[in-house]
Amino acid sequence: MAGAPRLEIRNLVRRFDGKAVVDDVSLSIAPGHVTCLLGPSGCGKSTTLRMIAGVEMQDSGTIHVDGALICDTVFRVPPERRSIGLMFQDFALFPHLSVGENVAFGLSGSGAEKRARSKTLLERVGLAHYIDEYPHQLSGGEQQRVALARALAPKPRVMLMDEPFSGLDNRLRDGIRDETLDLLKEEGASVLLVTHEPEEAMRMADEIALMRGGKIVQRGAPYNIYNAPADREAVAFFSDINLLRGKVQGALTDTPFGRFLAPGVPDGAEVEIVFRPQHVSIDFDRGGKGPNPTVAAGTPARGVVERARFMGSESLVEFRMDHDQQTLKATVPNVFLPKPGTPMWLSVRRDRCFVFPAS
Ligand SMILES: Nc1ncnc2c1ncn2[C@@H]1O[C@H](COP(=O)(O)OP(=O)(O)O)[C@@H](O)[C@H]1O
Ligand SMILES: [Mg+2]
Repeated sequence: MAGAPRLEIRNLVRRFDGKAVVDDVSLSIAPGHVTCLLGPSGCGKSTTLRMIAGVEMQDSGTIHVDGALICDTVFRVPPERRSIGLMFQDFALFPHLSVGENVAFGLSGSGAEKRARSKTLLERVGLAHYIDEYPHQLSGGEQQRVALARALAPKPRVMLMDEPFSGLDNRLRDGIRDETLDLLKEEGASVLLVTHEPEEAMRMADEIALMRGGKIVQRGAPYNIYNAPADREAVAFFSDINLLRGKVQGALTDTPFGRFLAPGVPDGAEVEIVFRPQHVSIDFDRGGKGPNPTVAAGTPARGVVERARFMGSESLVEFRMDHDQQTLKATVPNVFLPKPGTPMWLSVRRDRCFVFPAS
């Protein structure tokens, strides 16, 4: 990371009723970068954001903007002087102010200057023609864009966004996400965006901080989080998973799909081999035989189709495996709906299997 981080939080802790809901969280965001705080509901994301915004006090830890302390347990810059823009889930606009006045709300300067900045931002989000209208005349998506313009108008150094798209229609969401990201990048804001949706985080983030139980369990570019997950839950947070179990001998474990490396795992310990349904490939049974083993795809194992469902752009096929009667899932592009009872051979892409100590 070149230069000082724009936002840095160190060892933040917040307890409610003696329980740490934010438990030693540290994060930094470079200027102009978007970090997504991603995790299941209740893991402490909003509490983290509220402490950075200054509307919630931490029990310990510090918050810095451009290297300057803005908050510890004794010293505290008030929220309105932190140069932090906020956009929360319910981004209520002021109903009695016009759209233009809403956007100009946090600005200082003459009336003409405020209106000019307000107009520039409204033009940027394609809503300049609504400048003298009132919020109730706008659709949900339009109100969302006005709220974004309002938050960005004072040129905050940091933007905090808490599930900002969750109230929007599914059809609108992708477009608004992309527009929002373009505008945030153009304004050069550093963004901490909270979401519980992995697709949203992958679409928006330069970096994802994966949170669970009040802690950040992994940080990295979306590609790395997806392809080098820290543990089984990290795999499962992004997709359905398949699971094999094995015992380790000599840093190897044998499975019906061949041998897997289990580096650093002691003899006799159990491991889990985790892989996603989209990395399972399937072949028809030819007289009791499957495809030949390869380095990339390992050894195939046989199962019978239990059920197959069409999911739109892909099909999901569930198999009952011959070797242990366990169910494994495969997703296949397009329409592929084999009849229940059909024997087939499954192979798993070796480089997409993750081996973890059994939990
Ligand atoms: N003011 C509060 N008093 C007591 N518990 C709270 C308070 N605010 C949040 N919590 C609890 O802290 C946990 C984390 O909440 P939150 O940060 O809102 O999670 P998230 O945004 O990840 O869904 C939850 O269990 C929630 O019930
Ligand atoms: Mg929340």
